[in-house]
Amino acid sequence: MKVRAVYPGSFDPITNGHIYIAERAAAVFDEVIVSVLVNSNKKSTFSVSERCAMAREALGHVKNIKVDNFNGLLIDYARRENANVIIRGLRAMSDFEYEFQMALMNRKLAPDIETFFIVTDPKYSYVSSSSIREIFSFGGSIEEVVPPIVYSKLQEHFKK
Ligand code: COA
Repeated sequence: MKVRAVYPGSFDPITNGHIYIAERAAAVFDEVIVSVLVNSNKKSTFSVSERCAMAREALGHVKNIKVDNFNGLLIDYARRENANVIIRGLRAMSDFEYEFQMALMNRKLAPDIETFFIVTDPKYSYVSSSSIREIFSFGGSIEEVVPPIVYSKLQEHFKK
C-alpha cells in the first residue's frame, strides 16, 4: 500500500527550509502533498494561489510531490486525501512545544493519522517566512534561503 503524507503550513512564502523538509519527506514516503492553509488567523502577504504557485515551481523537480491547499481541520483534509501521515519540520527546541501539542491534539482527533517530525538542516534553523519578508522589505540579503521564484516574487511584491 502506498503511503501518502501531507506537509501542511502557511508557506507565506515557501523557503529553502521548507523545501529541505519536503524533499526529505519525499525520499521516505510514496507521495507527499505540500498543502497551503487557506484560512489562517495569520494575515498573509501572498494569496493562496501565489503561495501555491511558488511552491509548485520550487518543488517541480520532485516527482512525488504535489502542491495543494486546504481549509478547515487538517485531519479532515488528510482523510479526504487518503493520507495517514502528517509531516512537520523542527528547526529548534523552541518549535517543539507547539508542534508536540499540535501532534497530540491531531492524534486525539484522528488516532489513525501519524505525525512525523523531520529535523531541518542547521543552516536553515533560523529561517522563518516572516523574518524573510521583514529582512527583504528593509533591503537585507535573503537570496541564500529562498528559491529564485520566491526571490523574484518578493521583489515584485515590495516594489508595489
Ligand atoms: N523552514 C523554514 N521555516 C519554517 C520551517 C522550516 N523547516 N518550519 C516552520 N517554519 C516557520 C514558518 O515559516 C512559519 O513562520 P512564520 O510564522 O514566520 O510565517 C512558522 O514556522 C510556522 O509556520 P507553519 O509551519 O506554516 O505552521 P503554522 O503554524 O502557520 O500552521 C498548520 C500550522 C497549518 C499545520 C496548522 O495551523 C493547522 O493544521 N491548521 C488547520 C486547522 C487545524 O487542523 N487545527 C488543529 C491543529 S491541532
